[in-house]
Amino acid sequence: MKGTCPTHEETTVADRQYDPGKDFIDTQDHSREELAGLLDLIALLKDADQDGACPELLKDVSLGMIFEEPSTRTRVSFEVAMVKLGGHALYLRPGEIHMGVRESLYDTAKVLSRMVDVIEARTLKHETCVELARWSDVPVINGLTDLNHPTQAICDVFTMREKLGELAGRTCVFVGDRTNVCSSTMWITTMFGMHFVHAAPPAYQAPAEWVAIAEENVARYGGSVTVTDDVAGAVANADVIYTDLWWWVDQEDEIPERRAAFMPDYQVTPELMAKAPEHAIFMHCLPASRGVEVTDAVIDSPQSVVFDQAENRLHAEKGILVWRTYPRIAHVSDELKAYHRGKVESFLATAHWDRRYPPPAPLA
Ligand code: CP
Repeated sequence: MKGTCPTHEETTVADRQYDPGKDFIDTQDHSREELAGLLDLIALLKDADQDGACPELLKDVSLGMIFEEPSTRTRVSFEVAMVKLGGHALYLRPGEIHMGVRESLYDTAKVLSRMVDVIEARTLKHETCVELARWSDVPVINGLTDLNHPTQAICDVFTMREKLGELAGRTCVFVGDRTNVCSSTMWITTMFGMHFVHAAPPAYQAPAEWVAIAEENVARYGGSVTVTDDVAGAVANADVIYTDLWWWVDQEDEIPERRAAFMPDYQVTPELMAKAPEHAIFMHCLPASRGVEVTDAVIDSPQSVVFDQAENRLHAEKGILVWRTYPRIAHVSDELKAYHRGKVESFLATAHWDRRYPPPAPLA
């Protein structure tokens, strides 16, 4: 019997649900304890990888990677992570697969669930990723939406912990636009008991609903959340100064007004870094517009950790893939594999193939 096939029009944001026990859509769906355990898993996998001994925990596992937008770090880190873990990844680009066009998202999710073990999705709209997760029977990992970037957030607190040690009580100042990385950084740092400050001109400051989520974290885990336009005051106590692009591809017509709003006060320059404690590190999710939100003198300085941070995307993806996928896959014994191979080989030895084309003689 054919089930109901929901369309985009028939579903509302309110009734779209996914399973935080299966998917990774938002760090807020998980406890601090669970995410702290994930950071420990990432550290183990990074250590193993650096010894050239990454365990093949996802042997023969398949990852489907959907990208509605271009990517360097997310795409490469997920694909290489799968290879290192013994599996493999398929790059699925809209226009090359029938996703939401000629085929409903529901059907795409159901079909992919029968063929791959886990899905990574970078979607233009957060609702698309949520809907995919809702209908998918295998884990869906959010690889960035217009709302948030949770895999980047995990990488970032992992990097901060590597560089600074204990996170609780540390201060992260996010300078610049209220991007999806800004929301994710606000939520993950406050979950780990940090002080988060968003320093931006009023028109580009984090909205109240993002701050309300961070305030829930602060109530549970300590730290604080502040939004200000006083960037010099904000960085005075910073352990981390983080920035992101001032505009993205769909905001190109806003470039003059955005540049005027952010320049020069919110550009991360050596002068701004000098207002922070000497030990403060500089972070950027990349890609960066050098000479726009950050100058070369900062991004290439000893305080900058951007390339360690970028490498950590690879280690973070390994941890996230194992966390979501390893408990769900069948761990088949060598005996069962030998049993099925024997059955198929016996069949092949006696099969009535088309005898006009005899098989080649075995190699000597
Ligand atoms: N930081 C990040 O997500 O980079 P990509 O867009 O290259 O994946």
